Amino acid sequence: MPKIYLLFLIAVMTICLTSCGQTAPTVATNSISQDAKQYTSTEVASHNQATDCWVIVDNKIYNVTDFVNIHPGGNKILAGCGKDISDLFNAKHSDKAKKTLANYLIGSVK
Ligand code: HEM
Repeated sequence: MPKIYLLFLIAVMTICLTSCGQTAPTVATNSISQDAKQYTSTEVASHNQATDCWVIVDNKIYNVTDFVNIHPGGNKILAGCGKDISDLFNAKHSDKAKKTLANYLIGSVK
């Protein structure tokens, strides 16, 4: 009888070691890992249209394709696709806009 009890205990411990307390694997989506990817400005320049729009702000690269159609400033954003818009963006946008931009970070300039 104690032997069966021991076997049961070992079985429970084995199951627990493989699954207890484990959460789903997290994908690194924080800004540090995104920032680590580097692209040349030539590469950024090829993403220059409404359906594929990357911008550079302060040496960081953002893929704002999903934001193009919801930009409060309308189509004006299209003029910036594939370009460094640091001066324009920093001069004409609020802190809220800067936070919005942060969501689209994909890397930095090589
Ligand atoms: C060439 C690039 C861009 C130009 C010329 C531009 C221009 C403008 C203009 C003229 C407005 C004012 C709209 C109004 O008040 O009626 C505006 C607002 C705004 N833009 Fe842009 N924009 C550009 C890029 C971006 C990017 C990349 C983002 C963020 C992903 C962004 C986010 C916003 C937001 C959130 C507003 C609302 C006002 C604010 O919070 O500052 N824009 N933009």
